[in-house]
Amino acid sequence: MVYPTNRVKKMKVGILSGGGDAPGINAVIRAAVRHGIQTYGYEMIGIKDGWNGLLKNRYVPLNLNVISGILPRGGSILGTSRTNPFKTHDGPEKTLQNARRKNIGAVVVIGGDDTLTVASKMIDLGLKCVAVPKTIDNDLAETDTTFGFNTAVSIATDALDRLHTTAEAHHRIMIIEVMGRYTGWIAIETGIAGGADVILIPEKPFDTQEVCEYIRHRQKRGKKFSLIVVAEGCKPRDGKEILHSTNVDEFGHPQLGGVGYYLGNEIEKTLGIETRVVTLGHLQRGGSPTAYDRVLATRFGKAAIDLINEEKYGHMVALKGKDITSVPLKNIIGKRKTVDLQLYDLAKIFFG
Ligand code: F6P
Repeated sequence: MVYPTNRVKKMKVGILSGGGDAPGINAVIRAAVRHGIQTYGYEMIGIKDGWNGLLKNRYVPLNLNVISGILPRGGSILGTSRTNPFKTHDGPEKTLQNARRKNIGAVVVIGGDDTLTVASKMIDLGLKCVAVPKTIDNDLAETDTTFGFNTAVSIATDALDRLHTTAEAHHRIMIIEVMGRYTGWIAIETGIAGGADVILIPEKPFDTQEVCEYIRHRQKRGKKFSLIVVAEGCKPRDGKEILHSTNVDEFGHPQLGGVGYYLGNEIEKTLGIETRVVTLGHLQRGGSPTAYDRVLATRFGKAAIDLINEEKYGHMVALKGKDITSVPLKNIIGKRKTVDLQLYDLAKIFFG
């Protein structure tokens, strides 16, 4: 079947996904490939494993057959990595050279802050890129939300609902540690949706005694169980960040994790109530995206291709209210969208 094209351009457009995966990447790829081929006549090519694919010349052709059936699939058909070309002395030049040799005219970069920071620097060197905001953490500036976040919150809320019944049956405290890096978006939305008794977010360093006070308060009113949601990036008011490992990735990030167990020990010591900890981890990133994320990712993928058609390189597609718009990539670099504290005030009504 021959599809109608508005304007036939023979440009080759690359797509890469970098950083931690997020449910919905494949929906972005599907929309971008379909729209790119069908509407503009672009040749589409997949770059494997994020920036590593351009560094190492690893590609995969993308056509309508390849993208068929990928909409509900988690992960990324292109693979992903936390490769930072700027970590090696000739990395950026090699990346640029390889893109030119492969005749790639523009790249759709699907990523979070690290991957998009590389995109911004590569644009300065002459690589034409447009960006799609991706992260379960929802911490990117200038977009109301990122795809993947809704799925992560749904999974974590389901987990919290399940912990609720077992906590109640055993008269225990259950702590669920969720991802989110240095922001508490997943924690706050999960906690509100799942009716947590205490929610701890990195934006508000916590005091263990205050947490215990909320639990005592519940005990006094006959509630023998409590549910606490804690974001992995939380730290005690007088303490340090708690790390799973001090090894850092190519962007200098250590592996967060362990604050749930830290808190559990402190609570047991103070209150003498049996406390169990669940670290939800990568379950939040795996599997099928929600309908919301599939739609958002599809809108982003289509909009990214339109940006290329308009030659609006250096821009990121974004959600503002109900509209898909675009913002200069430079406006988001080095910024972090933290939890709206009004949301925290809402959550606090239900503490204790
Ligand atoms: O940025 C997404 C994220 O899932 C964070 O919430 C988490 O801290 C990190 O990635 C985990 O990274 P990795 O998959 O490398 O363990």
